Amino acid sequence: MSAVETRDGVDNLRVLDEALKRRTIAVISHPDAGKSTLTEALLLHAHAIGQAGATHGKAGRRATVSDWMTMEKERGISISSAAIQFTHRDTIINLVDTPGHADFSEDTYRVLAAVDAAVMLVDAAKGLESQTMKLFEVCKRRGIPLITMINKWDRPGGDALALMDEIEKRTGLFPTPLTWPVGESGDFRGLVDCDSGQFVRFHRTAGGATIASEETVPAEDATAIAGPAWQTAVEETGLLREEGHRHDESLFLSAASTPVLFGAAALNIGVRQLLDTLVDLAPSAEARADTSGVRRAVNSAFSGFVFKVQSGMDSNHRDRVAFVRVCSGVFERGMTVTHEPSGRPFATKYAQQMFGKDRETVDMAWPGDIVGLINASALRPGDTLFTGGPVVYPPMPRFQPEHFRAVRSTDSSKHKQFRKGIEQLDHEGVIQVLHSDRRGDQTPILAAVGPMQFEVAAERMANEYRAPIAFDALPYTVACLIDAETAKVLAKHSSIEVTMASDGRMIALFANEWKLRTLRREHPELTLDSVSAE
Ligand code: G4P
Repeated sequence: MSAVETRDGVDNLRVLDEALKRRTIAVISHPDAGKSTLTEALLLHAHAIGQAGATHGKAGRRATVSDWMTMEKERGISISSAAIQFTHRDTIINLVDTPGHADFSEDTYRVLAAVDAAVMLVDAAKGLESQTMKLFEVCKRRGIPLITMINKWDRPGGDALALMDEIEKRTGLFPTPLTWPVGESGDFRGLVDCDSGQFVRFHRTAGGATIASEETVPAEDATAIAGPAWQTAVEETGLLREEGHRHDESLFLSAASTPVLFGAAALNIGVRQLLDTLVDLAPSAEARADTSGVRRAVNSAFSGFVFKVQSGMDSNHRDRVAFVRVCSGVFERGMTVTHEPSGRPFATKYAQQMFGKDRETVDMAWPGDIVGLINASALRPGDTLFTGGPVVYPPMPRFQPEHFRAVRSTDSSKHKQFRKGIEQLDHEGVIQVLHSDRRGDQTPILAAVGPMQFEVAAERMANEYRAPIAFDALPYTVACLIDAETAKVLAKHSSIEVTMASDGRMIALFANEWKLRTLRREHPELTLDSVSAE
C-alpha cells in the first residue's frame, strides 16, 4: 500500500477507517413527496438540529436548513443543493440535497454523480411520480443502490402491497421491505420490524416538531394494542416473506433490489429506521473508477472531483463555492492540489462545509465527504483535483437542452457585468451559453433543459451581477452536436443556427425534430449527434 500523503502523517488504516464510517447519499423524489420534511427529520433524529421546522416558511417556524435562495422560498421549491453532514451511531452521513423540480434535473444528475446511494422518497398516495421515475432511471443507469421510503402513511392513500407491485413493475427493482405499516394509510398505528417481527409503536409529538418516542412491543402483545390491523400486517409480511421479498446485500448493492421502509416524515415516524438502514446497509465510500475504469483505492493520495459550482448562496457571502466530493486520501485545508484540466496547482486555503446558510471551516475531510471550496473561480463541474499520482474522474453528465432564448442586457452601461455574469452562469452549469456568428457576443443564446432555468438566470443576473437581462424567443426546440464540416454545410441553411459553446463544442439548433430528420435523410454524411452525454 502506498503511503497517504498528508502533512501530519495520517496513516492508511485511518483513511480506510474514516471511509468505512461514511455514507454519502441523496434523497430523490417528485416535488412535494416530503424531501425537505424528511431532511429536517433526519437532522432532528441525528441531533444535528434541536427542532424540526416545517419547510417553506410556515408561519412561526423557520425555513428548512437546506433552503436558502429567496426564489426557493417564494416558490417553495429547492433549487440549489446544499451538502449537510451529521452523525448517527458513530457513522457520518453526508446528505447531498437535490433540487426537486424537473427543470433543474441537470443539477440533480450532477449530485447523483457524487453519492454512493440514494433514498427514493415516495408519496404513499401518489406512488411513483414522473420525476421519481426520471431520477430512478439515472440511478439505475449508474448502478446507484436505492433505499425506498414510502412517506405520508398517516394520510389516506395507497395500499402497501399494491405499492410493492408498482415498484417492482415500474422500476424493475425487487422490493424487500424492512418495515411494514400497521394500519392502512390514514390509520397509521406503527410498524412491523420485518426482521424481528416485533411491533414498533410511536407516540406522536405536537406537529412532529420533536422526535416521536417509540416503543418496541413483542409480537404476542401487539394484537391487544393494534387489533385486526396487526393481524393484517402480519399476514401481509408473511406473504411477502413467502414470495422471497427479503433483503439481499448483493442484489441491493448492484441496484437490483431495494429495501423499503414506511413512515411519516412530518410526524418523525420511521425516520430512525431509515437512519439505521443508511448505517447498516448503505455502502460506505469506496474506490471510484477513473475515466479509464481503473479504481483508485480510497487510501491512495488525495483525489476528488467538483460536482457543483454555486454562487450567491448567501447574500452575506457573495462568493463562489465549488463542491468537491473527496474520493481518496485525506483532504487537509491549505494543501496544494493539482487542478487536472489546467495542470496548475490549486491552493485550498478556504475550505468549508455547509449547513444551509451556516458555514463551518473544514480542516480535514475523508473519502465520501463533500467540501465547499470558496472563491474557487478556476473550478468547473467535472474537474478532478488530486495530489500524488494523476487521476481523471469521468466528466459530469450533460443534458439535451430543449429550450432556447437569445439574451441581452437591458442596461447598456452594464456591458462588463453582463458578460461576466453570463460567463459565470455558464461555468456553474446553471445554463448552457451558446455564441453564434449571426448574433455576435452581445446577444448569446441560453439553452436550458427546463424553462425555469431562465428565470434563475434572470434573477441571478439582476441581483448578483446588477445586470438586468431580457430574453427574445427563438424558433428552436432541438440541438445537435456537429463537427466543423457539418457546420460549413449548415451555415447555408437560414433556418438552422450554428453556435459554439464555451468549451468549443459546435451545436446546431433546429426548429423541430422533423427538420432534423429531413436533413439526416438528405445528407447522411453529416455529423448530427446528441448533445447529452451521460
Ligand atoms: P418536497 O421537499 O419534497 O417538495 O416536500 P415537502 O417536504 O415540502 O413536503 C410537501 C408537503 O407534504 C408539505 O405540506 C409537508 O408538510 C407534507 N408532508 C411531508 N411529509 C409528510 C408526512 O409524513 N405526512 C403528511 N401528512 N404530510 C407530509 P404542505 O401542505 O406543502 O405544507 P404544510 O402546510 O403542511 O407545511
